[in-house]
Amino acid sequence: MNLKSVKKVAASSSIAYVADMDTNWKQLGLAQNEIDYISSQLKKDVLQIVLNDLGKVRLICVFKQDKEAYKTLENCRMAGAEATKTLNKLKIDAVTVINESRDADAAILFAEGMALSNYQFLKYKKDAAKEQNSLQAIAVLADSASPEEVAALQALVEGVCASRDLVNEPLSYLTAEQLSAEIKKLGRKAKFKVSVFNKKKITSLGMGGLLAVNLGSMDPPTFNILAWKPKKPVNDKPIILVGKGVVYDTGGLSLKPTANSMDYMKCDMGGAAAVIGAIYAIAKNQLPVHVIGLIPATDNRPGLNAYVPGDVITMHNKLTVEVLNTDAEGRMILADALSYAQKYKPEMVVDAATLTGSAVMAVGNHGLVMMSNTDDNNSNKALLKKGSYKVHERVVEMPLWEEYQEQLKSEIADLKNIGGRLAGAITAGKFLENFTDYPWMHVDIAPMAWSFTENGYRPKNGTGVGVRLFYEFIKQRAENK
Ligand code: BES
Ligand code: ZN
Ligand code: ZN
Repeated sequence: MNLKSVKKVAASSSIAYVADMDTNWKQLGLAQNEIDYISSQLKKDVLQIVLNDLGKVRLICVFKQDKEAYKTLENCRMAGAEATKTLNKLKIDAVTVINESRDADAAILFAEGMALSNYQFLKYKKDAAKEQNSLQAIAVLADSASPEEVAALQALVEGVCASRDLVNEPLSYLTAEQLSAEIKKLGRKAKFKVSVFNKKKITSLGMGGLLAVNLGSMDPPTFNILAWKPKKPVNDKPIILVGKGVVYDTGGLSLKPTANSMDYMKCDMGGAAAVIGAIYAIAKNQLPVHVIGLIPATDNRPGLNAYVPGDVITMHNKLTVEVLNTDAEGRMILADALSYAQKYKPEMVVDAATLTGSAVMAVGNHGLVMMSNTDDNNSNKALLKKGSYKVHERVVEMPLWEEYQEQLKSEIADLKNIGGRLAGAITAGKFLENFTDYPWMHVDIAPMAWSFTENGYRPKNGTGVGVRLFYEFIKQRAENK
């Protein structure tokens, strides 16, 4: 999608007026009969009105003000998503967004919803050209949003779409090594540094969790380091984003029941995709924050040499783990990445992972489950929580009370990799906490990484969840010197 800032509306462009219930229709230069029509539609609660002028349209897009500010922001994005759908139906290729509401940021939010909802994944379709959306360009009037805001939005949308692409790519293309190649490509585009450790290096570092999960696979694992270090960062110590990069999760020998749960397990690198997309946007927009991404990557398969229930694995930090379910593989590879993060003496580490079905059971598809080893005075935790509402990727915090550690006690090793039937999302988080020695937040994105239905600007399948959450968090951190 091409987003640009313009000083005036091009003659060939359609127009989307972003409006609210208080908009003064007269100031739009509309004829009286058009104003009467709009008023009658609004009375019927029709919030999008199409004025069709032979090949060009004027769309009146009304969003509702909500008592809760964050919901109004979301209403603006959702109105943008609706506009994109209408414009594509009408085969329109270019539109200019003009803010006619009283909210200063309505146009940029609306453009965000528009651009994000125009996403398609057509790589494997013969008739891609035919299926392609007509909408190609979104212009935002400079009076409605600054050129800088529009440029920043372009990078963020690219980050979200790159993340969705990665989640939508099947294992037949996206092996761990291919994921590393994709990270390098994106690193060259956005100018962040990428280092990739191969199996030999991973072995020499003693990343036993990552190696164990990889044992049943035909393809080697990788460990990826993404680095964005601006000239004058606001932070002395880096902020580290860790992403679960299980490019496919069969469950291993503790095989998942087929037909339902395995069909979409290419999404199990959704955490990695969130980190990659966020660092892409952070680097492209040159946010003044030192950020490092760590991504352990492998598939999880029941191959000949696969790790088995009962195995005891020595992890990167020398703790031993008794494996009692090979489907609890995410925590095995994340634990090594979290323990590797210790060497950076980070200000904060945030991991994103499609970690548990239990998180989905807890919140459905409406939010993300967060846990942290910090108390409520931690300013980064406050920023993440607040930002999560702003971008509508809401996190809810669950506790990591010490009692949960009991559930992870093994008879023969330091820990076991499952915590029993109760509090599955929490015991997964509690397991990870054992590998941290710094302020840390864990975000279980299993509830929203994959969607079975389209919902406004969130498409079906890979959603790119986490990119806007992390981007907003780092942006707020930049302003919170
Ligand atoms: N990748 C899954 C979790 C998942 C579930 C992701 C739904 C996306 C949507 C994870 O590796 C897993 O299998 N977790 C198990 C853990 C259990 C064996 C302790 C689970 O949640 O059932
Ligand atoms: Zn699993
Ligand atoms: Zn998994």
